Amino acid sequence: HSAADLVVAIDGPSGSGKSSVARRVAQVLQLRYLDTGAMYRAVTWWLLEQGVELTDTERAAELTARIPLRMGTDPQRPTVHVGDVDVAGPIRESRISAAVSAVATNLGIRRELVARQQAIAAERGVVVEGRDITTVVAPDAPVRVLLTASEETRLSRRANELHGESTESTVEATRDEVLRRDADDSTVARFLDAAEGVDVVDSSHMTLDETVRAVLDLVEKRTGIT
Ligand code: DC
Repeated sequence: HSAADLVVAIDGPSGSGKSSVARRVAQVLQLRYLDTGAMYRAVTWWLLEQGVELTDTERAAELTARIPLRMGTDPQRPTVHVGDVDVAGPIRESRISAAVSAVATNLGIRRELVARQQAIAAERGVVVEGRDITTVVAPDAPVRVLLTASEETRLSRRANELHGESTESTVEATRDEVLRRDADDSTVARFLDAAEGVDVVDSSHMTLDETVRAVLDLVEKRTGIT
């Protein structure tokens, strides 16, 4: 594998730190970066915008096949557009987080987005992050990583993200949301334990820098690329 067309697949639950890690790894290796969760979120935004009932799975999948979704893959400045609309901000709103599971569990939508993710990965080297990248989107990628973290660590990171601090009360406020999403997400993709041949990195007691280093070490071990 040459460094220029390397595919690095990273899966993990929310709060595992995989977005920050994936972006940094892409920057160091001069690869592109693809956040597949952002694609499920953008589809959710677009379907709600069109007034589609997410429970109408057939109609939702039909419309998704036509979504003019453009993912900007510069790890320094990743972008998400639907047509000419910049949706990077809106897709992080809590109304989208609350609705996205209905989209991520729609098998017709998954088929469409997996195909688009594979097309992007086939163009040239990329770090792809999500829930089913090591198993479905890029099972043949030379580097496949499952990034985990203890429940305590994930709750504390998410509380920091949402509330600016990690205290007993902000962690409690976050617990339901995180655990419910894990439960919903694990119905479609098995990401809480590693598939055959996937390397596990547990970031519970690691800083961001240490976690990035651990993934770069795996890239070197698996491909010789430094
Ligand atoms: O990583 P995130 O929170 O932005 O992901 C948003 C949702 O999409 C979440 O419910 C998990 C789901 N998802 C998925 O099912 N498969 C992926 N490859 C990426 C995300």
